[in-house]
Amino acid sequence: MTSEQTRLAAASHTVTEKLNLFSPLTVRDVKLKNRIGVSPMCQYSSVDGFATDWHLVHLGSRAVGGAGLVICEATAVEPRGRITPDDLGIYKEEHIEMWKRITSFIEEYGAVPGIQLAHAGRKASTLSPWKAESRHSKVDLSDEQGGWESVGPSAVPFSPTSRTPHELSIAEIKEIQQKFLIAAQRALRAGFKWLELHAAHGYLLNSFYSPLSNFRTDEYGGSFENRIRFVVETAKILRAEWPSGYPFSVRISATDWVDGGWTVEDSVRLAEVLKTEGVDLIDCSSGNVRGGDKYPFAPGFQVPLAEKVKREAQIMTAAVGLITEPLQANEIIQKEQADIVLLAREMMRDPYWPLRAAQELQLPATVALPRRYTYAI
Ligand SMILES: Cc1cc2nc3c(=O)[nH]c(=O)nc-3n(C[C@H](O)[C@H](O)[C@H](O)COP(=O)(O)O)c2cc1C
Repeated sequence: MTSEQTRLAAASHTVTEKLNLFSPLTVRDVKLKNRIGVSPMCQYSSVDGFATDWHLVHLGSRAVGGAGLVICEATAVEPRGRITPDDLGIYKEEHIEMWKRITSFIEEYGAVPGIQLAHAGRKASTLSPWKAESRHSKVDLSDEQGGWESVGPSAVPFSPTSRTPHELSIAEIKEIQQKFLIAAQRALRAGFKWLELHAAHGYLLNSFYSPLSNFRTDEYGGSFENRIRFVVETAKILRAEWPSGYPFSVRISATDWVDGGWTVEDSVRLAEVLKTEGVDLIDCSSGNVRGGDKYPFAPGFQVPLAEKVKREAQIMTAAVGLITEPLQANEIIQKEQADIVLLAREMMRDPYWPLRAAQELQLPATVALPRRYTYAI
């Protein structure tokens, strides 16, 4: 440990009284100094999957800002698994070097570096949203525009304008699982201490377990057990590879919010299975498996999902989605609705949100910021 890390670790011990947002959390051998995590946020700022200085600053500033956990954005395990041509990846050995720089910076400033391994499935091959004319339009890329063939459980597109995906054979499913495995090995060498499997938002793994996108008739489709097979097998492969001392979480879409779709009760059952495979925490997001579906957006609208999965499957959860206020976030932890709160857009607005939260809640966490700042504040 460097002297700065020792000081930050000591600071986090000062908040031990009642369970709150700044209580440390130990998962396996990894200790988070507080319950605040940066939710993965695609930056669509890479060329051929390489992380850049942008990622170092984007992620590094949120570590300096005081988050306990910084989960890097969806990182593709193969080029075909990128959402856009500008997505991050870990499908080449050469990707590791820049990641190392980023993870060591995040750790130096007291946060745990996490990576979200992802495959976009049938939602691949689109234009980066910040390059589109309207922030709400999803522009699909044809081959002529630099796009590529997408893949999915069935040859059914995400939306009427999306590409029709290639239906994966069982041999191809196994090949993709091997790519997740190799990506996890690289992630370890790149210095990540927390592994998250992206199985939400309609991307490949989610599209297999949701009945709204999987119309297969083999052992990867049909019954609940068959639809969850891809994600459960992948989790098992990753857990066997990932060091036993390091945490492993799975992000799910805990409900499709659609009649006849995946339900939160299904999520409880899935969480129970994933728990037996050594998954430590379920990160509970929702929706996005099909274009055009509507969601009940409201502050904290996904918190009840995290709470139900936590209570009924008896597993740690992360709550995410329209959590913006320190009091709101603190209450989620104090009421034990979730073990971690993840913030995305509010962290974009304010990388120092943890500092603001500590001040508003009058909890002594400002000392967990780098000395360069705290001596002056
Ligand atoms: C710009 C942007 C990029 C995102 N990228 C990812 C991603 O890579 N992986 C993921 O699981 N969720 C992603 N999300 C979803 C967020 O992690 C989060 O679940 C969602 O924004 C709701 O949280 P919020 O209300 O705090 O923003 C992204 C969200 C935004 C706004």
